[in-house]
Amino acid sequence: MDNLDEGQHSGFGTQNILVNQVSQYLLSLKDESQPIFPTRCMLDFGCGSGSLTRLMIPHVTTTLVGVDTSSRAVSAFNHLNGPLKAKDQTIKAIKVDLLNTAESFEEILTSVENHDDRALLTESFDVIVTMLSFHHFPDMDHALSILRKLIVRSRRGHLFIADFFQTGPPPVKESTLSVSACHPLYLEMLNQALSRQGFFKIQMDMTAIRVRMVVKSAVRARDYKRRGFKVFRNEKGKKDGYLVKGHLSVLWARLET
Ligand SMILES: C[S@@+](CC[C@H](N)C(=O)[O-])C[C@H]1O[C@@H](n2cnc3c(N)ncnc32)[C@H](O)[C@@H]1O
Repeated sequence: MDNLDEGQHSGFGTQNILVNQVSQYLLSLKDESQPIFPTRCMLDFGCGSGSLTRLMIPHVTTTLVGVDTSSRAVSAFNHLNGPLKAKDQTIKAIKVDLLNTAESFEEILTSVENHDDRALLTESFDVIVTMLSFHHFPDMDHALSILRKLIVRSRRGHLFIADFFQTGPPPVKESTLSVSACHPLYLEMLNQALSRQGFFKIQMDMTAIRVRMVVKSAVRARDYKRRGFKVFRNEKGKKDGYLVKGHLSVLWARLET
């Protein structure tokens, strides 16, 4: 794709221009001449305030679920998306860390107190989207093994990872970074992890969407500083995070059946 619009992201919510591009792209996709959307059931993993989900509401017939570890993100998602639901739709974000390696997936599910939330998490999702979130997940094999459990197997289940990707092997020093070693996502590592976890990569696209994001988190900022990213200053000239520029792509994979 040859699109050079610039989107912005500020850690908590992706700005409209970027999610518009991604949603338009998803809606244009066909799997063996069948459009993927409308679909029955979609999960937005690492949903933030749910800006991508919001644009997909008219294209998902039954259930849209968001999952995030941040209570702020989950309340924003529910506040902004809940009122937009049609009569026969369920739209809900749930605060849970499904990637917590200290417990099994089944134990994590059992710990979700609300029965309806638990039931939503055991839906078989036709589509899982994870936008600018996958690079936060510390162990991509583990993350993919959990996504595999959540995705529908009897029909075709699709996984879309919208994120920054980098080709070539990660520099050794990446392994010393305090957060994930995978920011940006190293495509070779991800491809290998996808096939280890039974996913089949279909395509990767939208390589030309430029993203400018300001990273404010203190933990992450340390890593950005070490990588030489520029300091971002607010209108008052005060240091306010790091400016990260990159290209966003969408990787489309489905489970091998
Ligand atoms: C950069 S934000 C992206 C949010 C949203 N997808 C968007 O594009 O606006 C990354 C999100 O991933 C969430 N996240 C990080 N680790 C997570 C995990 N283990 N499970 C679910 N969400 C997680 C964060 O709380 C945050 O809301």
